[in-house]
Order: sequence, then structure tokens, then C-alpha cells
Amino acid sequence: MATFTVNGQDVTVDMTDDTPLLWALRDGLNMTGTKFGCGVAQCGACTVMVDGSPRRSCVTPLGSVDGAEIETIEAVEGPEAQAVQEAWVDIAVPQCGWCQSGQIMSATALLRLNPTPTDEDIDRAMAGNLCRCATYVRIRRAIHAAAKSLEG
Ligand code: FES
Ligand code: FES
Repeated sequence: MATFTVNGQDVTVDMTDDTPLLWALRDGLNMTGTKFGCGVAQCGACTVMVDGSPRRSCVTPLGSVDGAEIETIEAVEGPEAQAVQEAWVDIAVPQCGWCQSGQIMSATALLRLNPTPTDEDIDRAMAGNLCRCATYVRIRRAIHAAAKSLEG
């Protein structure tokens, strides 16, 4: 069992401590915006923020997030998250969409730390988020667009 906040709401999940956080979100809390891709920390589809840092929820044990603050795609907030999501829509980044909640979480985390990322910064920060539809060029453009909108 673990008690933590998800998008500012207090929640308690009655699952074993070794249950992956992804299972707790999707099956325990019915929050299905965070996706299962590989289950072994290789694709980034399951990325959520744990205490402000992007984390692969498929390999994050529930017992390790007791007392943590978790943000998910359902309600990630703040100017960076908003700018990223607007740029994603403007540039029509998603194709099948499966990887995109994780992409948006990683892009938001990048802009919170680095508001003016270079191509190299973007490639480094996003390297762990795979996309079978190969939206990488649009993702890079959208992150630059979001950074520009945050400047203004
Ligand atoms: S499902 Fe977690 S990294 Fe792929
Ligand atoms: S949009 Fe299809 S896997 Fe990324």
C-alpha cells in the first residue's frame, strides 16, 4: 500500500510495494493516459513526474513513491506543460499517439530545467523516449516552438 499525491490529489493504492507505479496508475486509479510500451525502462511511454523529475513508471515500485508528488499527462500543469501541449497540437506531432504522453512529460521536464534547449539538448533529453511512428523531427520542432512561446 502507498499514499501519495497524483496531480495534487491525495490517493492511497492498496497494492503490494513491488507493484510498478504504472500498474497502480492504470489499474488501481483508472488513469490510462500513461501508456505501457516495453515494461523494462527502454521506451519512455510510461514517463510520469515523481517529485518533479521524469521517471519510468513501469520500473518504479509503488513502495518507493510513498509520500511522493506525482504528475501525469492527465493534468500536468504549469507554463512549460501548457506551451508543450499547444505546440504539439499546432505542429500535429502525434501519429498513432501511443508514445506521446511520455514524450510530452519528458519535453515538459526538459523545458522546466532548460528553457532554451539546443537541438543537442533536445536529442539528449528525449533519447529515452522512442516513437515507432518516427515523429522525432516534429517533436524537436515542437519543443523549439514551445521554448519560443515561453520567451514571449
Ligand atoms: S513502458 Fe516504461 S519505459 Fe517502456
Ligand atoms: S506517435 Fe506512434 S509511437 Fe509515437
